[in-house]
Amino acid sequence: MRYWGLSALSHDASLAVVENDQVVFAAHSERYSRIKNDPFLAEALIAEALTYGPPDAIAWYERPLLKRVRHIRAGQWAEARSRADLPRQYLRALRLPFPIPEIHYASHHQSHAAGSFATSNFDEAAVIVADAIGEFRTFTVGYFRQRGPYAILHRRSYPDSLGLLYSAFTRRCGYRPNEDEYIVMGMAAYGQPRYVDAIYEDFVEVRSPSFRLKINPHRGIGNWMPDASAEDLAASIQNVVENLMVNAATWARHRTGSRNLVLSGGIALNCVANAKVAREAGFDNVWIFPNPGDAGSSVGAVAAVTGARLRWPGPYLGTPLAGEYPVEALVKELTAGGAVGVANGRAEFGPRALGNRSLLADPRPLNMKDQVNRIKGREPFRPFAPVVRVERAHELFDMPVPTSPFMQFTATCRRPAEYAAIVHRDGTSRVQTVDRAAHPGLYALLEAWEEQTGCPLLLNTSLNSRGEPLLNSAEDVAAFTARTGLQVY
Ligand SMILES: [Fe+2]
Repeated sequence: MRYWGLSALSHDASLAVVENDQVVFAAHSERYSRIKNDPFLAEALIAEALTYGPPDAIAWYERPLLKRVRHIRAGQWAEARSRADLPRQYLRALRLPFPIPEIHYASHHQSHAAGSFATSNFDEAAVIVADAIGEFRTFTVGYFRQRGPYAILHRRSYPDSLGLLYSAFTRRCGYRPNEDEYIVMGMAAYGQPRYVDAIYEDFVEVRSPSFRLKINPHRGIGNWMPDASAEDLAASIQNVVENLMVNAATWARHRTGSRNLVLSGGIALNCVANAKVAREAGFDNVWIFPNPGDAGSSVGAVAAVTGARLRWPGPYLGTPLAGEYPVEALVKELTAGGAVGVANGRAEFGPRALGNRSLLADPRPLNMKDQVNRIKGREPFRPFAPVVRVERAHELFDMPVPTSPFMQFTATCRRPAEYAAIVHRDGTSRVQTVDRAAHPGLYALLEAWEEQTGCPLLLNTSLNSRGEPLLNSAEDVAAFTARTGLQVY
């Protein structure tokens, strides 16, 4: 039985191929169309998925008719009238080279929850899904057991949405809502949370275990606090989100008695909030799928409609680029010039480059941050992340979790003066830990790099230019090298 999981028609379309319970392929449409956050399924993505054979069934990541009802209730008439966003119509219009099989629909939050739980190794877990909006649900706390139904213990619905509120602040700070939230999170470290009380006063009512909103954040917050700096606004909304997440997670632990927490939905991309939850909510283990936003719900939809635990080999699920991991060439280039690209193996499924489509650099020179920013053409205040062998991570960082293989948690760097390029304004780093079994090539690279230079870290950022999707194919890499002059192996 071959399922295609599909997440499309909103933002960040993706496709997953699941054979029985094995995830064999998963990728983002934007990597193929080269259109950032592409909401539609790219032709080349479909072609690559078809190399695994046509699907016997399709799992769609949300319920389109329910979503339509919400569009009508919210007065979003353009969306409500469109017929092109009904999955079957949409897939027909793509003129796929196979008959469209049965389409199974899962609810938006069920896809988030089931996909994240199905890829964890927990027998049972408390699950929090927090995002902007799917159909109606915006925030759910539930409990999963290996067998037995998913029990929802608490829910909030549109327009009480933490994700939409964060997006409203993203717009207020001068950035694009639904795309640039990560920039606001990075900017928060440069500001003071001066407006926390004002946010509670004007927008957020704490209602245990979560919150209600006093406004509809879909309509934005206009020019709220016109004299406030973007940095202070960012710090303030970030503080509110962190506290609400810690409150909900703490409640979930008491309510379920579980030692395991699963976080999912777009809010789980907020690595500063994740670290705070990991530290303060009292769980022993926290699992976040490497792609917890809507793009990851292509995998999640299959988990939701089949009810299966999924076998998956890690986040390297996309386009393959052949060859051994080029350890020797990378060390040589890093020693000589400080920075190098690597495009090897299967592309990452998820927003982070985790060593297969990465720009790597020596984290020690003071000018390295500027050098890498120049290559990528991006904003100077954005932090870069370090990659480190898991055995060395705790000695170098005050980690909130034992391992962080997908860069989902921030940790205070214990030697910030030595590694300026990977430490953010607030003294933290978004750490990626690597163990030998999960990525032997990257692990061997870190070993060889340390042996040669004594430095246990590398700076790891995505291999792309500003505003561009992560490089995917050999052709993308060739064009990037021609444009930037950076060597890529
Ligand atoms: Fe979502």
